[in-house]
Amino acid sequence: MSAIQLRENIYSVGVCDPDVRIFHGYQTPSGTSYNAFLVKAGEDYVLIDNVKEKCTDEFIRNIEEVVPLERIRYIIQNHIEPDHSGSLPAIAARLPEVPIYCTAGAQKGIKAYYGDGFACHIVKNGDTLTVGQYTFRFIPAPMVHWPDSMLTYLEGENILFSNDAFGQHICRAGSIYDVDLGYETLMEREADYYANIVLPYGTQVVGLLKQAAELPIDMICPAHGVLLREHIAPVLEAYSRWCKNDCDENKVVIAFDSMWGSTEEMAEQLAAEYEAQGKQVELYHLRDIHPSAIMGKLLEAKYIFVGASTLNRGLMPTVAAFLTYLKGLYPKNRVGMAFGSYGWGGESVAITEKELTALGWEMLPSRKQVYRGKA
Ligand code: FEO
Repeated sequence: MSAIQLRENIYSVGVCDPDVRIFHGYQTPSGTSYNAFLVKAGEDYVLIDNVKEKCTDEFIRNIEEVVPLERIRYIIQNHIEPDHSGSLPAIAARLPEVPIYCTAGAQKGIKAYYGDGFACHIVKNGDTLTVGQYTFRFIPAPMVHWPDSMLTYLEGENILFSNDAFGQHICRAGSIYDVDLGYETLMEREADYYANIVLPYGTQVVGLLKQAAELPIDMICPAHGVLLREHIAPVLEAYSRWCKNDCDENKVVIAFDSMWGSTEEMAEQLAAEYEAQGKQVELYHLRDIHPSAIMGKLLEAKYIFVGASTLNRGLMPTVAAFLTYLKGLYPKNRVGMAFGSYGWGGESVAITEKELTALGWEMLPSRKQVYRGKA
């Protein structure tokens, strides 16, 4: 991916990572991108964010398509997770005097990951940096996605550099803006990303949206995926629903694994039962799908049912993995049910029920039956 001029003084200089298939436990079938931006402010240049370490050479080439690296006078580091800070040591080594604008949490992380010698300049909520004709406003957003995270708003251009917020995990080569991706695909990828990355931090998203509502925003430049220009309102609206765990009473997700086919039959019976009530049911065999690929589907589902045969007095590993992943993301306000078939033990249903109950969900009576042979 080369540098792309977005506006007269704004450039995209990030990189694509088309081959990454698992992003910290999250399956990314279309790869991802690490977006970073360069702003020409008067005669100076401001770099916003960095990229994954392995992409450093390409990143520097992109920057230098616009300007020699040494013309950068400021670095804004919105977040220090390695996908956004991996190239920072190499960049900072060439720009040792250039201040790195970041939160106190980011400074701590940079020191812990990369050692001393970084010229961090700590910012707090509402602090600004004026360079040339531009003012950059800093909006710390702890836990969206890490404690150190912040967003940067460019006044005048009305651009929100949102880092992890509002992103999508896709390699955006060939698709720069939301319209290039298409509305349906955009919203599907936003949901998938929100469910896998942002879902546990709904309370913090509420605060962020409140601040965003006060800003005129013409473009959102997240650090992953396409840039939002045409579909800002629906993405913000979707975030406002998702962060409250607003669910659709008509949507049911059933995830299961089955040893001899009997739990699978229970899943199919459940699906038929709820479809007969007019509900939209999605059925996932956990043998065939990665847990993270289901999360976007259950983001708006009110009913989440989990089925597990008993294996060695416990859960089948696929179900255990699904429950572990689900618990980490902590969806709220759901109605759950555990179900499963067994040959002689049957412990899996009680284990599953306990795990779902720990999420604070309303639970329907569990269903458990002995193996009855495959029809
Ligand atoms: Fe894209 Fe929290 O890193």
